Amino acid sequence: MSTTNQGHVTLVGGGPGDPDLLTVAGLRAIRTAEVILYDHLAPVAALEEAPEGAELIDVGKIPRGEQTSQEKINEMLIAYARAGRNVVRFKGGDNYLFGRGGEEALACMAAGVEVTVIPGVTSAFAAPSLAGIPVTHRGVIQGVSVVSGHLPPDHPKSRTNWEAVAVSNTTIVVLMGVEYLTEIVATLTGAGLDPATPAAIIVDAASPRMKVWRAPVGQIAELAVSEGIQPPAITVIGAVTALELPTSP
Ligand SMILES: C[S@@+](CC[C@H](N)C(=O)[O-])C[C@H]1O[C@@H](n2cnc3c(N)ncnc32)[C@H](O)[C@@H]1O
Repeated sequence: MSTTNQGHVTLVGGGPGDPDLLTVAGLRAIRTAEVILYDHLAPVAALEEAPEGAELIDVGKIPRGEQTSQEKINEMLIAYARAGRNVVRFKGGDNYLFGRGGEEALACMAAGVEVTVIPGVTSAFAAPSLAGIPVTHRGVIQGVSVVSGHLPPDHPKSRTNWEAVAVSNTTIVVLMGVEYLTEIVATLTGAGLDPATPAAIIVDAASPRMKVWRAPVGQIAELAVSEGIQPPAITVIGAVTALELPTSP
């Protein structure tokens, strides 16, 4: 299908929440957009930079809350682009890291709609960094495993080899892991991860509500329950967590 006279879709990664952590290219895309489909984890304050008259559409998928289905979002991106509009898909972090950006790109490509991507600063690395935790550190750890915790490890649809992650000797960064943290930690420690390994939970990074808790991994799930920790949160497990480097101002 020809793409002539069509609009196009730009997938824009908004960074972890503070509009200052949106890239220059991302901000430029917001400033020239005609339609913006955004999520609740995107730095919505940056939408003030959208041109007057731009259509701003909240398609946020709040867990267990109001939802716009992924199919509907794909349809909307394609329909607006086919109507000749310059469409931005604006999400938190990076669109391709647990962001379904790949599905959106494929849907646009299949529909013959031109799609480009502007990477974002992922919360997987920004949240630890803002909390003073370097995800790697020379002489301490030489790798990072970023995993989704949205399913319990024994769930039939879980594709992560948690036992391998446990003994990978990498920093483990768990996104979407609040609900099943007890099961995740039990699986990791059961597979050989030392329960004394330093860990941290970072909530609402890059926002004025940001909070950080530190505890050995063997105690972190209990802490999360007793503190009533709610998403969005990231759990970091590994020796680097004990390094208390400067935090964000
Ligand atoms: C669906 S994933 C999207 C990740 C996003 N694409 C990224 O690259 O950061 C949502 C999860 O990211 C993490 N997250 C996103 N923003 C966060 C923030 N500001 N503070 C803490 N965790 C965050 C949480 O684990 C949350 O449940």
